[in-house]
Amino acid sequence: MPRQIITGQKIADHVKRLGDLYPPIPLDTVDRTVHNPEAVKQRYGHVLDYLARVELEVDRNVLELLVLLPDVDETNRMFYADVWQPQEIQHGLILDRLQQDLDMPAAEPHLEVSSKIKLLGALAHFEPIQSVAKLLYYLTGASTERQAVLAYNQLNEGLNEMGERAIAETIIHPIKQQEPGHFAFYQMSATAMVQAGELKPWQLFLARVLREKSYGLVGTNGMDRYKADMGAVIMNLGMEDELADYAREIGRVESRLLWANKEGMEVPTYILKALHESVDLYTEREARKAG
Ligand SMILES: [Fe+2]
Ligand SMILES: [Fe+2]
Repeated sequence: MPRQIITGQKIADHVKRLGDLYPPIPLDTVDRTVHNPEAVKQRYGHVLDYLARVELEVDRNVLELLVLLPDVDETNRMFYADVWQPQEIQHGLILDRLQQDLDMPAAEPHLEVSSKIKLLGALAHFEPIQSVAKLLYYLTGASTERQAVLAYNQLNEGLNEMGERAIAETIIHPIKQQEPGHFAFYQMSATAMVQAGELKPWQLFLARVLREKSYGLVGTNGMDRYKADMGAVIMNLGMEDELADYAREIGRVESRLLWANKEGMEVPTYILKALHESVDLYTEREARKAG
């Protein structure tokens, strides 16, 4: 496939277009009619809670961005401040309202910036490290947004199957439409850095090492309890038998940009490992509860 050159202008245009096309979804435009609340809660309660929490954690993600990229440029600023944060926070508020309609407790977002990010942020004042941090930030964004797209696709399909048209069409569908634009932003931004040769070989090497050591699935925040919760999401969405395909999907950008020349890295092994770890932690937790 011929590779297009991604310019800064192209990324800036993309961000402007996203802002014009997709204003944040107002809470009062959604129809929260649920025909069978018990069935929805049973099948997707946990998924809704997980997604609501992760979406509401966008405010921490913004703080992390500012820690990691102290010299953030106008396109990045416009993306997170005018497009991404306003859209994601509405996703969170709407999903959280829906789960409370289902008599579930409100989401509890984890809003504390981790010490790992603070450390990388301190190092990022050193310009060559900031480039590495920036690439890792984009790769994280690409992988997590792809996970969001896949989760909302599954959820949308499942809710339609259950005949829950109102919430599928007025909540999940509009949210789902906004996620691919986020993915594209991160994907284009990471690609542009590598295409322009912004990183020297030692910086790419460092990016590979750090990525392998620090990869986390969306919303797991490096903590076992969230990893186990993510395992439950994978099971509830019926994706546990397709972990390798799923890993390939959510790792496509980094396998192309970081590992293209490395044998056998079509599916980044650390991503597949993270998926198995989540499912295992969930299964163990359930077994402990049962025993
Ligand atoms: Fe979102
Ligand atoms: Fe998103």
